[in-house]
Amino acid sequence: MTRTVYVNGEYLPEHEAKVSIFDRGFLMADGVYEVTSVLGGKLIDFEGHAKRLARSLSELDIRKPMEDAALLEIHRELVARNEIDEGMIYLQITRGAPGDRDFVFPPEETEPTVVLFTQSKPGLAESPAAKTGIKVISIPDIRWGRRDIKTVQLLYPSMGKMMAKAAGADDAWMVEQGAVTEGTSNNAYIVKGNTIITRQLSHEILHGITRAAVLRFAREAQMKVEERAFTIEEAQEADEAFITSASTFVMPVVEIDGAQVGQGRPGPVAHRLREIYIEESRKAAI
Ligand code: PDD
Repeated sequence: MTRTVYVNGEYLPEHEAKVSIFDRGFLMADGVYEVTSVLGGKLIDFEGHAKRLARSLSELDIRKPMEDAALLEIHRELVARNEIDEGMIYLQITRGAPGDRDFVFPPEETEPTVVLFTQSKPGLAESPAAKTGIKVISIPDIRWGRRDIKTVQLLYPSMGKMMAKAAGADDAWMVEQGAVTEGTSNNAYIVKGNTIITRQLSHEILHGITRAAVLRFAREAQMKVEERAFTIEEAQEADEAFITSASTFVMPVVEIDGAQVGQGRPGPVAHRLREIYIEESRKAAI
């Protein structure tokens, strides 16, 4: 089945979808994105993603091209047309294609470019990696200072994944001034006893939509949550570690820079939080 994608008002087969070479997303990484997961053909936390998208656009002074209801409609249409049961929807909005290259922002009336496509991932909820856990390495965080804006500047995170791969690991945690900021494409957590520790929200990290939901479920389940920075050494000595994102949900981390975390197996807290997250998200999906 040929994938149907959405580009600037049209639903097209993927090979017919085109964006200008002058698009500022292409030339300057001048754009933002969202990844929303799909379970059972329904969208997980659409409202949270739509809110963060609006904030990212507003922080960069990119015009919001449509209302949330219209965005929701496109998401649903793509899920239906591509028969997605489990997977993701990728959405990208850029400052548009002004017709030439210029550092100065284009005129107000320039239409933002809007692209959405689906990624089918059968078995997303039953991921084998969640049963074994993943290994991470640490790398310096050399990204720009506004990581709370979900921009398409993903070169360094992409390089980070390659560094992890070269080291025989699955992902990288980034470290700044001695403390972990986040994973290359996820938020980072450690567990000590009944306490979940994750870095506080600031410009230094992306405000994960999965993070917000998982912390809420953790508190509801009487777990303690501490929002503060932690070091790699503290993480290596923790009982458990895990990451969260729209594409991995809650994923246990069993090794950090070659040191085993806890028993070197996914721990009970990460396991439980993953179960709760998937169950509750399915119930609330739209
Ligand atoms: N990444 N931190 C970073 C740097 C991210 O890129 C992401 C998401 C997260 C988790 O955010 P959320 O829970 O809202 O997915 C944290 C997406 C999945 C991606 O780039 O594919």
